[in-house]
Amino acid sequence: MDKILIIEDDLDQLSILSQYLKQKKWQVEQANTASKGIDLAKSTNPDMVLMDYKLPDLDGSELLSRLKEILPLTPIIIITAFGSIEMAVSALKQGAYHYLTKPINLDELTVLIERGLKTKKLEEEVKKLKAKLNEEKFSTPPNIIAQSEKMKQVLVLVQKVATTEATVLILGESGTGKEIIAELIHTLSLRNNQPLIKVNCAAIPKGLLESELFGHEKGAFTGAVKSKPGLFELANKGTIFLDEIGDMDIELQAKLLRVLQNNSFTRVGGVKEIKVDVRVIAATNKNLEQLVQEQKFREDLFWRLNVFSLTIPPLRERKEDIEPLFTHFIDKFGQKYQKNIQGISRKALELLLTYEFPGNVRELENIAERAVILAEGDKILPQDLPPYLQNKPSSSLNKLMTLPLPKALDELEKYRITEALKLSHGIQTKAAELLGISERTLRYKLNKLGLK
Ligand SMILES: Nc1ncnc2c1ncn2[C@@H]1O[C@H](COP(=O)(O)OP(=O)(O)OP(=O)(O)O)[C@@H](O)[C@H]1O
Ligand SMILES: [Mg+2]
Repeated sequence: MDKILIIEDDLDQLSILSQYLKQKKWQVEQANTASKGIDLAKSTNPDMVLMDYKLPDLDGSELLSRLKEILPLTPIIIITAFGSIEMAVSALKQGAYHYLTKPINLDELTVLIERGLKTKKLEEEVKKLKAKLNEEKFSTPPNIIAQSEKMKQVLVLVQKVATTEATVLILGESGTGKEIIAELIHTLSLRNNQPLIKVNCAAIPKGLLESELFGHEKGAFTGAVKSKPGLFELANKGTIFLDEIGDMDIELQAKLLRVLQNNSFTRVGGVKEIKVDVRVIAATNKNLEQLVQEQKFREDLFWRLNVFSLTIPPLRERKEDIEPLFTHFIDKFGQKYQKNIQGISRKALELLLTYEFPGNVRELENIAERAVILAEGDKILPQDLPPYLQNKPSSSLNKLMTLPLPKALDELEKYRITEALKLSHGIQTKAAELLGISERTLRYKLNKLGLK
């Protein structure tokens, strides 16, 4: 039931209005002063307000603007004394929904209220839709596919952390999209007009990484003929992405920790403290906790990095993403190879959906590129997929690999027992022999698995 708040100091008028509106099946709240009206507006959240413009304790235009603040979408109808049209006009300019002059025509009032309530509902609807649109606009940056609930959750976290200065640790198997997520965090951050410097800690030879990251002074080592700033200095005011952080040398980790703690470091062979303002995003496909246990990764650095960690799930745990990703990649490679490919055949899609993707999204991307090159028509067919996908073990075996273990064992038992019974024409002694179990065990299992 819609709720109407009446603010009116004339008690007779107040009671007439409220009785009339109640009888019209609306819920009514009454206030005989502006301050009570404001309190009720806050506590009861009405769908419509009727307010007298002349109240003893507050100027009408002041009350109107307070009410608009508290109830931005609620229509407010002003009641004015006859003849004060100028006042009414200024109230309308201030955002009142309508005005009525005393004596009030109750039919007119009813029509106005009904119309006002309808408008309010529409406005609320529009607002909700707009909010939803904004959300959706965010959750699908054009180059990032996130159809699955799991990836959507990752994006929600990304959105939340991006605008902070927090160090972010991105975890996930190889090819899951750690780098693309790191880029997104930088893009959504306040540093997005500053550099994003990417460093692959595993790709730079151990001895060189320190001077790459922190720079060196002239003569620091053989070959250092000039002094050179490191990547941390180049990333100043921006973001540095330390990829494969799990591969960083343990001695160098100490220096990194110092930067994270003090924002300062010295170049190799230098003594001067250099201050930088750099946000760090790190990523690894290694299990850092295990590396800590093996004393290959500093525990203090781990905790420092782990303040905010994001785990990108492997593709096999978010199969809803497979088709949209594949389509996305087909578009991309279709443009690259000038081929107009419309989609994927059902059979080919099935092969993709039952595959485990040890190489995750990167593997899917490679499969898509290869398929676009091979495709002869406007659809990707099974023969355009790599042979290992086409002759892979039957999908039921594949299913066994993903079911929870107890379920998988049940399935396997069911399958083997049914096969054995078929082969032995239903003779249990023979079937038990084939399975290498006793007849009693077989009977027990038949019972347990509901195969009788
Ligand atoms: N959600 C996604 N939407 C679109 N493309 C994606 C998505 N996730 C990953 N990719 C693409 O897949 C490829 C691999 O992603 P990325 O390099 O970010 O993975 P990674 O986790 O850093 O891999 P690695 O551990 O091998 O370095 C890239 O080409 C990337 O653009
Ligand atoms: Mg990577």
